[in-house]
Amino acid sequence: MMTFTNRKQLRDFLWPLRQDGKTVGFVPTMGALHAGHLSLLQQSVTDTDVTVISIFVNPTQFNNPDDLKKYPRTLEADSAKIQTVNPDIVIFAPEVSEMYGENTVSEHFDFGGLENQMEGKFRPGHFDGVGTIVKKLFEIVEPDKAYFGEKDFQQLQIIRKLVEICQLPVSIVECPILREPNGLAMSSRNERLSPEMRHKAAVIYKTLLSAKTLSGTENANAVREFVKTEFDNIPDIELEYFEIANESTLEPAPEFDPGKKYRFFIAVHCEGVRLIDTISL
Ligand code: PAJ
Repeated sequence: MMTFTNRKQLRDFLWPLRQDGKTVGFVPTMGALHAGHLSLLQQSVTDTDVTVISIFVNPTQFNNPDDLKKYPRTLEADSAKIQTVNPDIVIFAPEVSEMYGENTVSEHFDFGGLENQMEGKFRPGHFDGVGTIVKKLFEIVEPDKAYFGEKDFQQLQIIRKLVEICQLPVSIVECPILREPNGLAMSSRNERLSPEMRHKAAVIYKTLLSAKTLSGTENANAVREFVKTEFDNIPDIELEYFEIANESTLEPAPEFDPGKKYRFFIAVHCEGVRLIDTISL
């Protein structure tokens, strides 16, 4: 398995393969890999000739310094997991200076309003950081296809917008959410939960499912009220937001309009960890 830390060396490695007509698939990650990440890798291996994964904890997308400090960094274990998917997968694991030079700052983007909803409201500057790093990575790897999880649906829509505004020649592939057996969406941050909380946090997805059932008969406000009440009754899981939003604009839905496609989005805090989830209606 090849691991690169230097962008030029990675490009020099990929160049002859591309000359040979090989297609390149790319999976950007921040490491601490779990089965969700590996499912994206598997999809890329199936679809393309060469798969590249980046492992880079991107400082500019963290608005909370403590979250950045505590983000798990487990390159050796990650490499072993990647190997189980396919030994030919290429790893790009640069240092911060390799990606940002002297100035670890974000470019500013106008994502047409997508960046102002939900995660954008609660994590100021987050999507400028994501856009900055993904654009840099796309310019280095020049993938034919790049794989992103539905789990971070707002991020997925932002990346589609980034590709459109920067006219990048890459197709974005959406991959389904992988969940733990109890329904909790897999996340690198789950590692920081106590076993009891990991069990208890199953309520996040359970509530989304119940809310989805309710949306068949009740109006949007009643669904919002239901979710709020569910979490009011669980003192150690704090609801940050629950949103019913239009899938393409991500704007909050005043009501369920039968002609439009909606999705629920949720963010909670438990044991100092922030977890998000989403479900389509
Ligand atoms: P990270 O959180 O490591 O996620 C990398 C990719 O894995 C994202 O596309 C994410 O949506 C996907 N993913 C995470 N959990 C998943 C799950 N349970 N099932 C399926 N896919 C899942 O997202 C980032 O990193 C960063 O913001 C990044 C895009 C790498 C930019 O720094």
